[in-house]
Amino acid sequence: MRAVDLIQKKRDGLELSKAEIEWLINGYVAGDVPDYQMSAFAMAIYFQGMTTREISDLTMAMVATGEQIDLSAIAGIKVDKHSTGGVGDKVTLILAPLVASFDVPVAKMSGRGLGHTGGTLDKLESIKGYQIEIEQEQFIKQVQDIGVSVIGQSDKLVKADKLLYALRDVTATVDTIPLIASSVMSKKIAAGADAILLDVTVGEGAFMKNIEDARQLAQTMVELGKAVGRKTVAVLTDMSQPVGTSIGNRLEILEALDILQGKGREDVTHFICELAQIMLGLANIEKSIDEVRQHLENGAALQKFEEMVAAQGGDLDDLYRPVNVAYQVDILAEQSGTISALPALEFGLFAMKLGAGRAVKTDKLDYESGIVFAKKVGQSIKENEKIATIFSNIKISDEMLSEFQKNVKIEDVVVKTKEILEIVS
Ligand code: URA
Repeated sequence: MRAVDLIQKKRDGLELSKAEIEWLINGYVAGDVPDYQMSAFAMAIYFQGMTTREISDLTMAMVATGEQIDLSAIAGIKVDKHSTGGVGDKVTLILAPLVASFDVPVAKMSGRGLGHTGGTLDKLESIKGYQIEIEQEQFIKQVQDIGVSVIGQSDKLVKADKLLYALRDVTATVDTIPLIASSVMSKKIAAGADAILLDVTVGEGAFMKNIEDARQLAQTMVELGKAVGRKTVAVLTDMSQPVGTSIGNRLEILEALDILQGKGREDVTHFICELAQIMLGLANIEKSIDEVRQHLENGAALQKFEEMVAAQGGDLDDLYRPVNVAYQVDILAEQSGTISALPALEFGLFAMKLGAGRAVKTDKLDYESGIVFAKKVGQSIKENEKIATIFSNIKISDEMLSEFQKNVKIEDVVVKTKEILEIVS
């Protein structure tokens, strides 16, 4: 076979065989197919798409390029969760211990943030001492002992995705359903859980900008999961504004701690309880939202979170420390009205410029910096009332202040918001 012939076949809208897809993926991981040919192939997929059969073969070919984790030593139905990326998305930090507090084991591998999106690993690493790289045996033992562990994805898992994702990131080929579905599901399948909750984000801060594309991505991934015997549910969630009130690594840990103590904002708390209810359902445990919420209010979920942090070397005394920054700047409303938009992409990029995110993979993070919103979309605000506070170690220029203000939309309208838009199962 020759890579050029397979690129041409896809470019011309023809269907590739399983053998052809495997040949290309294996050749790429072995270094025989160079980056420039793989880039051309990714772009051909971007324009021509793939059939369901091709996506399934691509996913399994990717799984086979690395180790597969065996979680069978952990008793019970292991549930995993994955988000397709967002701004201010601290959901895993709360959801994992919350679900574990119902004795459902959560063995989760998470990723880092890039560009405007944040990563759970970066947030956890902002906790002094927290180890994200632990041996597989220790990972499994921790889940056996306390029911939850969140670590970094092993280098040995899905080698093809590591290479391909980095290539897609610089060749404008990330936001295409076949490549997102195979990237997400190859990692989830290799990570070994019995059941998977997929959080497919929708909106201007997400890869999927509209509900139709998000639905198609969700359906594709649910089918992929089911085809390999993993119970899979996808939830389409709103990413037109940031999740919760904070963006930034330590700031999101602090918000997660508030939610874990039942002191979070009602909308984000309810949203996470709904996700927990679905995850518990995947493990055959039926709970009402009130029963789930009780584990936030009675400290059960917080206790699991603290046990996880301590087990992974995190400093519990440091955990609740407020952020330590050189500058705190309040942003006040320039007019009265209702907040009609807080665009997630723009505020994600703003937080990135403060140092809370990475423009490129090698950037160093400032864990303390970020934004805390005092108001969210749909809330009314009076002129000169606080919209948000910027926490920064760089001086906020007038230009940055006006950029922030420009992105806050205040109008005389009624705006309804919804966190979960649809469930695909
Ligand atoms: N998240 C992933 O893991 N892969 C993608 O391609 C997009 C989002």
